[in-house]
Amino acid sequence: MEMARIGVTGLAVMGRNLARNLARHGHSVALHNRTSARTKALVEEFGGEGTFIPADTPEAFVAALERPRRLVIMVKAGGPTDAVIDEFAPLLDPGDMIVDGGNANFTDTRRREAALRERGIHFVGTGISGGEEGALHGPSIMPGGSAESYTALGPLLEDIAAKVDGTPCCTHVGPDGAGHFVKMVHNGIEYADMQLIAESYDLLRHAAGLAPAEIAEVFRTWNTGRLESYLIEITAEVLAHTDVATGRPFVDVVLDQAEQKGTGRWTVQTALDLGVPVSGIAEAVFARSVSGHAGLREAAQNLPGPARGPVAGSGLADAVEKALYASKIVAYAQGFHQIQAGSAEYGWDIDLGAMAAIWRGGCIIRARFLDRIRAAYQADPETPTLLTDAHFTEALGDAQDAWREVVGTAARLGIPVPGFSTALAYYDSLRADRLPAALTQAQRDYFGAHTYRRVDRDGSFHTLWGGDRTEVTG
Ligand code: 6PG
Repeated sequence: MEMARIGVTGLAVMGRNLARNLARHGHSVALHNRTSARTKALVEEFGGEGTFIPADTPEAFVAALERPRRLVIMVKAGGPTDAVIDEFAPLLDPGDMIVDGGNANFTDTRRREAALRERGIHFVGTGISGGEEGALHGPSIMPGGSAESYTALGPLLEDIAAKVDGTPCCTHVGPDGAGHFVKMVHNGIEYADMQLIAESYDLLRHAAGLAPAEIAEVFRTWNTGRLESYLIEITAEVLAHTDVATGRPFVDVVLDQAEQKGTGRWTVQTALDLGVPVSGIAEAVFARSVSGHAGLREAAQNLPGPARGPVAGSGLADAVEKALYASKIVAYAQGFHQIQAGSAEYGWDIDLGAMAAIWRGGCIIRARFLDRIRAAYQADPETPTLLTDAHFTEALGDAQDAWREVVGTAARLGIPVPGFSTALAYYDSLRADRLPAALTQAQRDYFGAHTYRRVDRDGSFHTLWGGDRTEVTG
């Protein structure tokens, strides 16, 4: 009987495309789906692309795999993933590998990895980015799990991953949940980047007075410079598109209520637990949330605001480009800070430069910019923040006047720019010689005797606010 090098169960579009990508690279792939119609359809339609071994039952599927078995599950995150693991794990032997390629919460991945490790099975939570097209033509792949499992899986995954300068956009991220953690932060950064692009569009539309087709041209131009990225590229495409039914700009017929499946929210929840300020990602999640509160927005329609007329001057687009670049640097710096903190918390030893390198191609946030981040970590792997890398410091310095002007203009015209504003506030907070946190500490000591530290002596102190206001050691 012919054996398969790897198997994929869960043949919805992502699983199907991943299986085809593997087959196209010469790897024989066993196929399984809960309903076998999907398996049959895949073989009928794409059977010519490589060697597929369809299986109707979990037993037949597992029996078709070479040992140690490599089994990829591509099902919905949460309950369905647990159900599939429960179905297949009893059929596996020590040394076999289960790869979860869904958008799982990394805490679930840690739990599953620990449980399966006890049975000698490698559980490899793997972030896969790039959507349907990426899965088929080359995604960015972020595998966690044991280093041993990567020895067996890495070559296959690297084969099917996107390549940039000949380097595969896939590397072993770190043990247990590290892969899904990094994918989660990737998605959080994706939210922040999309929000900043949306704010840029809004400013060009309502502050510069440009039409969507004109804004598409602005984005096209930006895409030839330092902002070159997949998200900027598709933004130009979307803005240039005309709705067939109405003849109106497509962007004007789409309901302005953004949805989310949860990875951005998880990023922020996790950042709060880790104590990492990812304000750019948080504002992006909240901006989607605000947009979706139709009743609240309806109730607030008549709140007073300034007159909204286009501002004179042709320099606004250039200023917005600078504000966008600067805010993007901040959003990515915050996301990488979160990966650094997660890595330290869980002992993952994640190579931050390598993460930037595997995001250069295949994934949704792929961009020229990521090569800069890779270079920054190469120059100083221990850097506490990307903002102090020489290239980024210079770019921020060059952008800051325009950035402040853009935020000010938006405030004056009543255009919400939570992403730009929070990025600037973070930048100024880090730069500040003194923060008003001193006052916050004093207030905490006043009402709750929470104590404070002093600038001139070690130790913690408390002032007897209700008494004679002498200072005692805390
Ligand atoms: C990717 C994407 C992908 C997807 C997310 C985000 O990396 O390929 O991030 O995972 O687009 O599900 O979707 P939401 O905007 O619905 O959270």
